[in-house]
Amino acid sequence: MLITIGLQSFSQKQTNSLKQAYAPYFKIGTALNSSHIEEGDYDGMLLVRKHFNAITPENVMKWELIHPSPNQYNFALPDAFVKLGQKDSMYMIGHTLVWHSQLPQWVHAITDPVQLEQVMKEHIFQVMGRYKGKIHAWDVVNEALNEDGSMRESVFYKVLGSSYIAKAFKFAHEADPDCKLYYNDYNMVVPAKRQGAIRIIKELQAQGIPIHGVGMQGHWNLNWPSLQDIEQAITDFAALGITVMITELDITVLPNPWDLVGADVNQKFENSEKMNPHPNFLPDSVDILLAKRYEDIFKIFVKYHANIDRVSFWGVHDGVSWLNDWPIRGRTNYPLLFNRNYKPKRAYKSVISLVKQAENK
Ligand code: XIL
Repeated sequence: MLITIGLQSFSQKQTNSLKQAYAPYFKIGTALNSSHIEEGDYDGMLLVRKHFNAITPENVMKWELIHPSPNQYNFALPDAFVKLGQKDSMYMIGHTLVWHSQLPQWVHAITDPVQLEQVMKEHIFQVMGRYKGKIHAWDVVNEALNEDGSMRESVFYKVLGSSYIAKAFKFAHEADPDCKLYYNDYNMVVPAKRQGAIRIIKELQAQGIPIHGVGMQGHWNLNWPSLQDIEQAITDFAALGITVMITELDITVLPNPWDLVGADVNQKFENSEKMNPHPNFLPDSVDILLAKRYEDIFKIFVKYHANIDRVSFWGVHDGVSWLNDWPIRGRTNYPLLFNRNYKPKRAYKSVISLVKQAENK
């Protein structure tokens, strides 16, 4: 009886959705995979429509999928993504134009600077140009930095030097002058890496090349990063006069192999019982820690809402999170606000009640 009453009172409070509750603060986004885009995951799409007002394609606009060989573009799924977004009045973020990962071999193999610049330009013009006026913002360059803030030795850097970033943003601005252009990376909470991002942003600004925002991928865990580092990162970027986005939020509750910090998609490790401690369900004790962690983090986001345009989760519910397969394949992870049965978790309740409490004050 008590349980029923508890559920009823909870569901009555659910007249609001995440996007409605957070409307005074920032957009609430999620990443869509092909099962959502093709409307196969019907229940998943119900959650998307109810709770989110911004969408990012998890994979289908990445170079190796959208432009796998020099004269081949696969626009079917990206087109479907944009159509879906338009139908549901979603804010749409393109992800991503220039990135060393999920980049086809034919691009990695280019060694001539003139050719690579031309290929990059054509890629940006074709992909952005197709969705001009439809996609609102693009992650133009993704993950250009090493952990110490130096430039990552990607094919773009090796062949074109650090000016490839300015070129990419310039081409992107030409391809769609009204589009918001972002630099996106992980571990921006680490001071040395953040200094690298600040350097990139200042260099673009000094050259008069538009950059509108910075995306901090939020691939975090229950203990890392510290709340102070999150706060410092937001204020440091805001001081540059650009918008801050939390772009790929998920909080792993599983052990971290070799104390891995970050989100380099190329790092993979072996599975084992020790590394997969909750194969069947999320214990209450961990669920509570996750809810508290989300609450603490969202308190910071709300505090700096004037500087934050969007907080996007990397996935709709636990069952489709990339963290079930990265950095170890075949684990059962619980990093998001909705569980595998499409039901809100404690973390959802802590995140939504945070702003409801604030409203009631
Ligand atoms: C991930 C996707 O979620 C996976 O499905 C894919 O296999 C690998 O890439 N940083 C990014 C995202 O910018 O594009 C990555 O997405 C996660 C890390």
